[in-house]
Amino acid sequence: MHPHTRRGILPAVLSVLVGITVGMPGHGQEKTKEPVATPPTTSRPVRSTGTGLLLEPPLMLTNVTRAQFLEMAGTVGRHRIGRPWIQPIMPLPEPKARKGQALTPTEVRDYMMEARRRFDAGESVPVSDVGLISTQEDVIRQPMLNHIAAFSNSVARVYLLVQRTATDRAWSYYSIVQDLTQRPAVDHFAELTRSGPKPEGTSCYKCHASGPLAIHPNREDLILDAGLAAALNEHIANQPLSRFHFPKGSPSPPPGKPLTLKACARCHDGEGERNRLFQVHAHPIRVLVDFGHMPPDRPLKPEELSELKAWLTSDP
Ligand code: HEC
Ligand code: HEC
Repeated sequence: MHPHTRRGILPAVLSVLVGITVGMPGHGQEKTKEPVATPPTTSRPVRSTGTGLLLEPPLMLTNVTRAQFLEMAGTVGRHRIGRPWIQPIMPLPEPKARKGQALTPTEVRDYMMEARRRFDAGESVPVSDVGLISTQEDVIRQPMLNHIAAFSNSVARVYLLVQRTATDRAWSYYSIVQDLTQRPAVDHFAELTRSGPKPEGTSCYKCHASGPLAIHPNREDLILDAGLAAALNEHIANQPLSRFHFPKGSPSPPPGKPLTLKACARCHDGEGERNRLFQVHAHPIRVLVDFGHMPPDRPLKPEELSELKAWLTSDP
């Protein structure tokens, strides 16, 4: 059920997106007020820089209005999103004193379920957006509607993602729990199914090399509360270095060659800020570099871009 594992390829995304807003379940029946309007967003406009790294034409949403976006995002339950907030990261109760023991599987699971409970009860402050790299562009040509909420205490950073494409009927729930009792911290991933969290590693690792990812909306106006997104992104950028936990039955995929390009490896080196990147991370690398998000400070020089392309297509 995970985003990138689904096969359906849908070229007519735009017409589907526009059409779906009419037949959406609950359309016109919700009596609650519109989500709080946001001021003009501060997120960077997303534009392909034409590096030639993308495998398909960029997935832009030129025909979708902000009103349609709000309508679709609101099907998750309007009382759950666009809520006023003071703290971007919601505090969780502190655990009893512990001496550096790692979180137990039960604790990880409880944190995930508590995040879900709070979201469902309308007690979290999620950012709602149409994600840019949440879909593997050559696998499903569909934008993802996302709601992302973050929680924390002194031993855990907990993230919740509630997600669906415009054509999915139901919302799916995913969670990341970062265990801060360990150095480096340890990231646990799961899909939250009806019967509880289903731990997962293999598929999540392809995009989440260093735990949670910054929120990059597909279009400047396809986000509800850009100020909140900026605060969450700061929290994510400042997270401690972490190690990916592969649960039983969901092992590391073959990584391929490591990325040694200096323009990337000075930060993605597994020591300072972020974990090393490998060929298995090709999708987020292609998209983040093409859209000018990586490296964060400057575009790649032509010779660096050629080196990156050669590496991406070289044998593992
Ligand atoms: C195809 C790439 C991709 C894959 C595979 C993927 N994710 Fe994500 N995920 C993203 C992106 C991109 C975001 C940020 C969304 C945005 O920009 O709004 C995200 C966000 C999240 C968040 C919210 C916190 C954060 O990182 O911002 C959670 C929780 C999450 N993903 C869980 C999972 C889990 C669990 C799996 C595996 C079952 C998984 N993801 C697999 C791309 C991916
Ligand atoms: C100055 C430090 C820095 C440099 C240089 C840099 N990155 Fe990043 N990168 C980050 C940070 C911080 C994040 C997480 C926050 C974000 O996504 O904005 C990140 C996130 C990523 C991610 C998402 C997976 C992850 O590790 O969280 C990818 C993929 C990525 N960068 C690729 C690249 C590539 C490719 C280059 C070189 C072309 C590069 N980066 C250069 C700091 C850097």
